[in-house]
Amino acid sequence: MQNFKKQIAEMLERHVEGLDSAEILDMVEIPQESSMGDYAFPCFRLAKALKKAPALIAKEIAGKLEGEALFEKTEAVSAYVNMFIKKEAMLRTALAAAIGEGSRFGGSGIGGGRKVIVEYSSPNIAKPFHIGHIRSTVIGNAINNIYAALGYDTVRVNHLGDYGTQFGKLIVAYRKWGNKEDVEREPIKTLLAYYTKFHDEAERDASLEDEARLAFSMLEQGSADETALWQWFRDESIKEFSRVYRLLGIDFDSYAGESFYSDKMGKAISLLKDKGLLKESDGAVIVDLEEWGMPPALITKKDGSTLYITRDIAAALYRKEAYGFHKNLYIVASQQNLHFRQWLKIIELLGFEWAEDCVHIPFGLVSLEDGVMSTRAGRVVFLEDVLRRAIERTREIVLEKNVNTDNIDETARQVGIGAVIFQELSNNRIKDYVFSWDKILNFEGETGPYIQYSHARASSLVRKGGEAAAAAAARPEALDLSYIESDSAFGLAKLIYRFPDAVLEAGEKYEPSIVARHIVDIAQAFNKFYHDEHILTDDEAEKTAKLSLVLAVKQTLKNGLGLLGIEAPERM
Ligand code: ARG
Repeated sequence: MQNFKKQIAEMLERHVEGLDSAEILDMVEIPQESSMGDYAFPCFRLAKALKKAPALIAKEIAGKLEGEALFEKTEAVSAYVNMFIKKEAMLRTALAAAIGEGSRFGGSGIGGGRKVIVEYSSPNIAKPFHIGHIRSTVIGNAINNIYAALGYDTVRVNHLGDYGTQFGKLIVAYRKWGNKEDVEREPIKTLLAYYTKFHDEAERDASLEDEARLAFSMLEQGSADETALWQWFRDESIKEFSRVYRLLGIDFDSYAGESFYSDKMGKAISLLKDKGLLKESDGAVIVDLEEWGMPPALITKKDGSTLYITRDIAAALYRKEAYGFHKNLYIVASQQNLHFRQWLKIIELLGFEWAEDCVHIPFGLVSLEDGVMSTRAGRVVFLEDVLRRAIERTREIVLEKNVNTDNIDETARQVGIGAVIFQELSNNRIKDYVFSWDKILNFEGETGPYIQYSHARASSLVRKGGEAAAAAAARPEALDLSYIESDSAFGLAKLIYRFPDAVLEAGEKYEPSIVARHIVDIAQAFNKFYHDEHILTDDEAEKTAKLSLVLAVKQTLKNGLGLLGIEAPERM
């Protein structure tokens, strides 16, 4: 795609003494207000070298740029040179890119095929997959899609919580009170009930805890009976998780969770030992992190069993060895900030320079309208129930609004799920947010359904325009774009042009909301264009030119939704 900013930097290099185009490129800004131009060049930095007031320099540069074919106009406003790109150039470039690159538009080859591990979702076996898990699942999936679009070779890892002393408790509980049919019918709810019962009973009878410790240690030693039970709990739980993943349209390349590292912990521990990082404390083994203002990291317990952080150290070592990653990303709630700070410090202390390629990407809490949920208080809201309810409610709305679709079930699924995902991704990930039904299913607000609806509106315009016009619109290089005149059309073209920058920035900041907000802007600009201009006119040439912009909108919205993990129905 023609790069205006780069072109401007090269142009300015000829007129600005002492700076090369790369330095200028860094300085060129995109003004907040479009009345201040499409690009602006600040002249403060030049004042010293040129011994002139910045405003004067701006004036001189603006004068020199006059007559450049790229610009509609240039003007000096105080210390800035404001540049306005010719509408025709902006339109042509945006349309050629969005339509020409098709489903690849927005992405690039910047990743060069380098490996990026994206770890997300990572629920705990035999524990509810609840609304709190949606964030890691959906944010992680979007980050994966964005990195893949940027040309990285991503590996999607689900680091299941499938190991630890709680499995000893579950094994004991199952043996005492369990029933195979119940587990098979409703694995997680049943296993959770056993687990809760275990805790109640253990308050009266402390020997249960010892039994559980023993069972876990048998499991760690690979004893056949314990392993078979654990494997079964794991398989049944994954079956349930998979139902949710299928609803969300989410996949993984690896389910290597905590248990996967059970035979890889010895190596990690001996590395820690060789580096002199381990200390004994009350029979347990720790890494002292006081110097860095953190509590000690517990590596093994008194009975020799390993911990969550031990497995994370082993996992990082393994991933570096197995994948040779360029980046290793962890999409995990901000409640685990301390854990990840401790863990990263330990990787650094081990002397691995790739510690800097490991990134914890935290996110804030989700709460429900009637207060924060908590597993303990029994107010757990299962993610699957939320998703099914979203689909059900959307179905009602679709029927009520008499939405144009020949497959209500399919549309209700696409829109209901899309609504939930979009609500997740439209806010800055670090912000806490309140899950609200009314907000997400609104077809008018800044919501998933609104964007899907805009996409469907674009699709419908293309259909109504007729096949010949659609085919011609798909080749914008051959069209007379002077028919597209309105400011709203131009604003829309600019947003399309900037879509790849939004994707890149979202990748750099691990912030899918940048893509989400950008497509909201595009949808709003498109609807403004739709109201301002008569698109399906009788004049064939005019109609085709405008439809070409509509096609570009359709492609960009579809790609943007796709990056977020949301489908784009053709009719709605
Ligand atoms: N299973 C953990 C939980 O549900 C999240 C795992 C996060 N990933 C990691 N590598 N520690 O809290």
